[in-house]
Amino acid sequence: MFKKIFTNDIIYKSLYNGKWIESSSNKLIEIKSPVDDSLVGKVQAMSKEEIDRAIANSKEAGVKWAETPINERAEILHKAADILEKNKEEIAEILVREIAKDRKSSISEVQRTADFFKFTADAGKNLEGESIMGDKFPGGTQNKISIVTRVPLGTVLAISPFNYPINLSGSKIAPALIGGNTVILKPPTQGSISALYLAQALNEAGLPPGVMNTITGRGSDIGDYILTHPGINFINFTGSTAVGKHIASISTMVPLLMELGGKDAAIVLEDADLEQTASDIVSGAYSYSGQRCTAVKRILATDEVADKLVPLLKTKIESLKVGSPEDNCTIVPLIDKRSADFVQELIDDAINKGATLVTGNKRKENLIYPTLFDNVTTDMRLAWEEPFGPVVPIIRVKDMDEAIEIANKSEYGLQSSVFTKDINNAFYIAKKLEVGSVQINGKTERGPDHFPFIGVKSSGMGTQGIKYSIEAMTRPKAIVINLDK
Ligand code: NAP
Ligand code: G3H
Repeated sequence: MFKKIFTNDIIYKSLYNGKWIESSSNKLIEIKSPVDDSLVGKVQAMSKEEIDRAIANSKEAGVKWAETPINERAEILHKAADILEKNKEEIAEILVREIAKDRKSSISEVQRTADFFKFTADAGKNLEGESIMGDKFPGGTQNKISIVTRVPLGTVLAISPFNYPINLSGSKIAPALIGGNTVILKPPTQGSISALYLAQALNEAGLPPGVMNTITGRGSDIGDYILTHPGINFINFTGSTAVGKHIASISTMVPLLMELGGKDAAIVLEDADLEQTASDIVSGAYSYSGQRCTAVKRILATDEVADKLVPLLKTKIESLKVGSPEDNCTIVPLIDKRSADFVQELIDDAINKGATLVTGNKRKENLIYPTLFDNVTTDMRLAWEEPFGPVVPIIRVKDMDEAIEIANKSEYGLQSSVFTKDINNAFYIAKKLEVGSVQINGKTERGPDHFPFIGVKSSGMGTQGIKYSIEAMTRPKAIVINLDK
């Protein structure tokens, strides 16, 4: 049975040195459900002194953890994965209520995290160092051999966003831990209860006290304090570009790995299988109401293609289930009123500037119906801004070169899709797109999670993905043997 981490079904504690504790600040943050505004629970608003204590504790625990054999670290990750898997329905119920993600996707988020843990444990064990002979360089000698291994960086600060509070916490924590680092987890406030369940899985799996501590509290209150704390050796952040840029501007000499916002384009060519393309675009753009960094956020097509694609998209969009995450709807209430208002602003701007509304523009509080616009032009905000909601613009272009030009004008550079049967055109476009990954004949998406996941320009810095994340959170250490001459 998954041990309860709260006192009276409402108050959630924070993980410190292997124990669940309440903050001495006596301040709690209420987490209300975006589904019906009901109270999901209350989390601790931790004070600066408690942050100091958590980081100091993590440093102490790190000494032994860095020396713990990797097969023992891997064993703990496997056990945590088993606990997650066994309790996935229970944890998913929290996700459904806390972030309004549909039940099926919530269960799959927990399962994906369990799989991620297992793969990371095994990938960590398979990472090899190297030995380098000295005589390769001019003037070098065989008497010098450099033995290069990977060592941890120290304490990793993991900050995750609301839309994947378990998976995007886990995908930072597991690579950090297998690499021998300790972790301070600062989960999203809306999503912190779900993330605390993940922490509980690791705690129950036997993670030594202090190797991971959680810090709950609003980013706007405590974020800068943690980010600039001298005890933090690496920052692994996923969230908005605005907060990412802020982190980059205040951090000092601490390496950063950041995955930020996106405006992923789907470029559709004349010879594409339009029925399949429309299905891929609709599932890529509207799942979880478009609240995914990798959601398709604009479609670029010529008149000839757009004229055929629009009716296919319209039919598929209008058949999406709209309503509650408890009923497994694709279109669910957005995370909060502010986000829904923002999406509505983009919709209103497009209408005012003459875009053609194909379907949607209906709203019930935070629930925005799936919306598609045709004839969106580059003076409209929807052409450039990330809605993080269920609204997609079609921008008509004269040819594929104009599609590439508009795609690249975006400040973002996460992913793009190209739909075509012509491999030469697919490669021509893929090579020119300024993004981390290009999907040929598929929707934009992060997984499978051992693939590299890269954001360029305002979409991030560094590479995530199991092996890449472990490498990012460890560094080479060279020990040079000088043999007798
Ligand atoms: P967000 O507002 O940037 O918040 C992300 C995290 O940063 C939360 O834990 C938040 O805590 C914390 N935070 C806020 N201000 C902070 C500060 N000054 N210092 C330290 N931490 C701070 O993003 P979100 O609304 O949760 O997520 C949506 C955005 O994330 C979208 O733009 C989306 O594209 C992006 N995203 C990108 C990826 C990717 O892999 N590229 C994946 C998922 C999401 P609080 O909750 O307490 O404010
Ligand atoms: O929201 C950003 C996530 O990293 C996207 O992951 O493509 O698996 O939904 P996903």
